[in-house]
Amino acid sequence: MTEKIDSENQPRIRIEELRSQLNKHNILYYQENSPNALDSEYDSMMRELKSLEEQYPQHAISDSPTQLVGSPPSKRFRAVTHKLPMLSLANAFNQDEFLSWKERASKLLTNELDFVCELKYDGLAISAIYEKGNFVQGATRGDGNKGEDVTDNLRTIKHLPLNLSGNYPSVLEVRGEVIFPISNFKEFNITRSADGLSEYTNPRNAAAGALRQLDPAETAKRPLDIFIYGIGYVEGNLPCETQYQSLEYLFDLGFNINEHNKLVNSTDGVIEYYSEYVEAQTKLNYACDGVVAKVNRIDFQKHLGEIGREPRWAIAFKFPSEQKETTLLDIKFNVGRTGSINPYAVLKSVQIAGANIKHATLHNEDYIRSKDLRIGDSVIVERAGEVIPQVVHSIPSKRTGIETELKMPTNCPVCNHVIFSSKDEALSYCINSSCHAQISKMVEHFVSKGAMDIQGLGPKQIQVLMTEKLIEDVSDLYDLKNHKDRAMEIQRIGETSLDNLLTAINESRQQPLERVLTALGIKHVGPEISELLSQRFQNIDSVIAASEIEIQNVPGIGPRISSSILSYFANTSNIKLINKLRVAGLNLEAANTYRLENQVFLNKIFVVTGRMENFSRTEIQNRIKTLGGKVTSTISKKTDFIIVGSDPGSKLDQAHLLQITTLNETQFIGLIQSLLLNNEL
Ligand code: IVH
Repeated sequence: MTEKIDSENQPRIRIEELRSQLNKHNILYYQENSPNALDSEYDSMMRELKSLEEQYPQHAISDSPTQLVGSPPSKRFRAVTHKLPMLSLANAFNQDEFLSWKERASKLLTNELDFVCELKYDGLAISAIYEKGNFVQGATRGDGNKGEDVTDNLRTIKHLPLNLSGNYPSVLEVRGEVIFPISNFKEFNITRSADGLSEYTNPRNAAAGALRQLDPAETAKRPLDIFIYGIGYVEGNLPCETQYQSLEYLFDLGFNINEHNKLVNSTDGVIEYYSEYVEAQTKLNYACDGVVAKVNRIDFQKHLGEIGREPRWAIAFKFPSEQKETTLLDIKFNVGRTGSINPYAVLKSVQIAGANIKHATLHNEDYIRSKDLRIGDSVIVERAGEVIPQVVHSIPSKRTGIETELKMPTNCPVCNHVIFSSKDEALSYCINSSCHAQISKMVEHFVSKGAMDIQGLGPKQIQVLMTEKLIEDVSDLYDLKNHKDRAMEIQRIGETSLDNLLTAINESRQQPLERVLTALGIKHVGPEISELLSQRFQNIDSVIAASEIEIQNVPGIGPRISSSILSYFANTSNIKLINKLRVAGLNLEAANTYRLENQVFLNKIFVVTGRMENFSRTEIQNRIKTLGGKVTSTISKKTDFIIVGSDPGSKLDQAHLLQITTLNETQFIGLIQSLLLNNEL
């Protein structure tokens, strides 16, 4: 009897366990943009759940993750109901599964089939609606029925047309994928880490994070792109009978259509395309995780219809997941520019996605402990979105007993100075400001593109110059011209190359204050914060003299950043360094565009709402910011002005209630003109 109850309960318990895990993953993946499971783990849980629900239909329920797409929209955004549901795709993980998909379709439709092969972009699905050729609404997929209104954020994507050209129907909904190009993603992560923020592990999460910013100006800072791959709801006629014609038609209307789409006339053609792109995808500037094969004729698509949340006329033929098992040989530590002690994995070398992986980041001590990684463990490693190698998890069942737990060092691995750690931070720090590792990283950062932009000085050359004591801190770069012969000898470079470097160093003296502030490498102060400081204080002496309150009053700077700025300038060795840079002839003044006399909106808070006629919302917001104002997305008592376009929604009512000054676009432009003439508010 007990046995019977157990065997009846077991599948139910497993089904519930899988549902709960998948629901959690869905929330992390779709709402918080930070998945903690690998795609392959997620896929295999979903498969197990599907097959259990088929085997035990008495346990099937309509809101099981197998029946839903994604997760419900976040409450932070206005919800949008899709006129037609946004579906998902069934997956094939190998050739047999792909061919059985075709067989299933052929049971319902005996005709010969053509297929369109497309890449499966690893980004964020969106819907964009055009009325009379104008972009009026953009939404995320959400749970497939309801998504989030991200209209203003989508407007900031250069390749999404705001107006269509040619012959469009009165209402046209297109569907596509927002992506974060890999090159932009890498640069974006560099800026984030300079700003003291955590790096995104892959472009998909970064794209989702960017699109789901509450402030479209924030989205605009993150260079996203978009590929359109289909048509949704339409009012009016379309001149297309096939998927391939739809893509051509969308291209003519002005949409960004992927150049690798291909029409083939057999499953062999799809397999050939797949084999080509398993290799070729690693060289693309965007992440793809498979090929999508779509039945070409639209009447055939309609005939085949959907099953649950997946169309029968299309399938995602997934690329093999780029993970490998290897051994965690050691956990070592390097020292960052700010003195942070950063753990990394030393791995038994393994090939993943065409690259030889020997190291992977381990972020911080908590990360290692939460994954229970031990030296000697067998581990699974992946290149997240083909970019940064990650240790995904260890395989405890393979332990032999000789594995050892992490011991955090007590002294800096480079200078041996005692390490400082605090309960409030995940990282520990070497606080010896003459630590060689910190200084060489500091020089690397100082010369980097977003800082002083001195080309021709890589990490190796910096190391040599430091070992030979030609540079002991960044100010010595400006004295290098006096040691030309010695530099040529130790660098083993020709005179012309050295002259080019010396010219670049000399020219960097003219870089404005915001570049110098970035280059100093103050914790949490990257290009954006430097720009804010520069706009507000205009020269280095005013930044140094600023009080905590004055710094915190700069819109965009909070207590964490201001305390880091204050403690940097409270340190006499930093002031000495700045004085050396001053003596070396650096320009320590803000760029002319930030002249204080133009800061007519200083400390004023704006909300911009509704559709504008002559400018995009982002243009208006940028204008406010360059004039010293702050833009927020919600109305409060602190709001000074609301700029209103057409269809402003509830914000205008709130503004009336709080008696906030309302301006339309023309009044706003007029106000700027008169303020710049009279220079007061
Ligand atoms: S077609 C009904 N085409 O994959 C057909 N989707 O798992 C639905 N995706 O939500 C989509 N590249 O975000 C289609 N070339 C492509 C795609 C693509 C990426 C994504 C899309 C969709 C998800 C389905």
